[in-house]
Amino acid sequence: DGSDPVGAAVHAAWVKHDVAQCGYCQSGQIMSATAFLKSQPKGKQPTAAEIDGAMAGNICRCGTYARIRAAVADAARALA
Ligand code: FES
Repeated sequence: DGSDPVGAAVHAAWVKHDVAQCGYCQSGQIMSATAFLKSQPKGKQPTAAEIDGAMAGNICRCGTYARIRAAVADAARALA
């Protein structure tokens, strides 16, 4: 959703990292990523472990976890 800065940053990072594979899990991944980044203090760069913890509720049968982690970190940098 381009009207929300966090949603826009997540969307841009997802496109940049070409995260989606089959797409099945992706709406849940994007909702979790957006909720996680909204919960973060402004300017804080989350650790990989924090990102993994926040995203742990979403199973991806395509194994896109490395790209998800990179995209969430990138979105956090873009929002800082
Ligand atoms: S992209 Fe296929 S299940 Fe996650």
